[in-house]
Amino acid sequence: MIPQYTVIGQPIAHSLSPQIHQTFAKLTQRKIQYTRTEATKDTFTSTVKKFQANGGQGCNVTVPFKEDAFELCDRLHESASLARAVNTLWMHKDGSLVGHNTDGSGLLQDLEARHHIALAGKRILILGAGGATRGVIGPLLSRAPEQLDIANRTTERSELLAADFSQLGNIKGFGLDALETGGAYDVVLNATSMSLQGAAPPLTKNNFSKGAAAYDLMYSAEDTPFMAQCRSMGVEQVYDGFGMLVEQAADAFLIWEGVRPKTQLAYAELTELKQTSK
Ligand code: ATR
Repeated sequence: MIPQYTVIGQPIAHSLSPQIHQTFAKLTQRKIQYTRTEATKDTFTSTVKKFQANGGQGCNVTVPFKEDAFELCDRLHESASLARAVNTLWMHKDGSLVGHNTDGSGLLQDLEARHHIALAGKRILILGAGGATRGVIGPLLSRAPEQLDIANRTTERSELLAADFSQLGNIKGFGLDALETGGAYDVVLNATSMSLQGAAPPLTKNNFSKGAAAYDLMYSAEDTPFMAQCRSMGVEQVYDGFGMLVEQAADAFLIWEGVRPKTQLAYAELTELKQTSK
């Protein structure tokens, strides 16, 4: 029987996950079925259970259900327990539901392997303190940066998040307003949803050290407002999160199918898809 996978979210119509996973299947010479599934907060659990009962083997989980998926799992991989969120569900053959989070490993793969950005000993700033940030803090700290600062509109949220991860490294949370008088960073990551509102965070030139890199966890065919802002401030290495999307999917494919597709090969083909996406 052909393995069945799906991506669950709301909205889900524009998700590129089916095309990404079918590209991986082609590269690894496998046959898979991969669909999109829309759910609501009320129907998320029953939708997953039904998919599992019908023989489904894995789900990617996207906004806004990653925390719901975390609650639903019978077993959690360390990546998910750290993040308190699940983006990959694996339906084990013993009937249990296993939760992983491949967002952080996907980000690291994209930063390090594709863009050659080193993190050890560096000063890292992450903007935003929501689910996207929580999902990547543990993996970022695993690289032993000199400092990981979280700046957020709601100061309390970034302080609480920093306190949650304080055992894992040098981490501090503060408000976006502190950036104006704040220091310089080697790597600046945008994990806010501001781009969706056409807005950019209140960064200044002084927030970037010489040779700094800027990375938006979101992606779009055009530069996001954050990326445009960074370029206008003279930052030369500016990237969007499309590579992260591809890499987190490859890690999910590995969990389900036991093989990690060569993402360099897939990336060029998939980048064309991005240009046509919204
Ligand atoms: P996600 O799961 O995608 O991270 P989220 O939990 O809703 O989504 O978090 C969105 C993040 O973007 C938050 O850090 C939010 O700041 P608050 O914690 O203060 O709400 C940030 N954000 C969204 N719109 C923003 C805006 N206009 N200005 C500044 N920050 C914004």
